[in-house]
Amino acid sequence: MEVIRIESGSLEETEKIAVLLATLVDCGDVICLNGDLGAGKTTFTQQFAKGLGVSKKEYVTSPSFAIMHEYSCRIPLYHFDFYRLGSSDEIVELGFEDFFYGNGVCVLEWSDMIREFLPEDRLEILIEYQAEFSRVFSFSCYGELWPDRMGKIVDAMKSR
Ligand SMILES: Nc1ncnc2c1ncn2[C@@H]1O[C@H](COP(=O)(O)OP(=O)(O)OP(=O)(O)O)[C@@H](O)[C@H]1O
Ligand SMILES: [Mg+2]
Repeated sequence: MEVIRIESGSLEETEKIAVLLATLVDCGDVICLNGDLGAGKTTFTQQFAKGLGVSKKEYVTSPSFAIMHEYSCRIPLYHFDFYRLGSSDEIVELGFEDFFYGNGVCVLEWSDMIREFLPEDRLEILIEYQAEFSRVFSFSCYGELWPDRMGKIVDAMKSR
């Protein structure tokens, strides 16, 4: 499995990565975000949503009460945050897994909380704090689709 590391030195650079990713995704894609509190998972999701065409009106915040928020854009975006998930039984009960194979793109904050339910094909993003405005993004490509897509992002970021 390929792991690609990209450093972001600013919010603008993070946005560039997130928007590029938004141009490359398709229905059924699953993007997992992990990293400490305040690493930038929600920020990345907001920028990704903007790239998909979510309107300002529908602005992305963390779905703290619902676990999942749905946004209509180029393709439907299902934004999950599993931080407050009581137990992984809850995910079985609520049938979230159906979304992972559904007709939209899923972004999962704190996906490590539900590791055993994740689909085989997915992009896992670990965000690590470096300094106030810099972060390291490590992209783990599970499945056939992601290495090519990530290659495009790496090339685009090189020519910035
Ligand atoms: N280069 C950068 N990339 C992303 N975020 C950055 C960057 N520089 C600074 N930040 C700031 O880091 C903070 C990240 O907070 P955010 O809520 O996105 O984290 P989170 O990982 O979702 O945390 P939580 O686990 O609490 O949900 C934001 O205030 C954002 O503006
Ligand atoms: Mg968050």
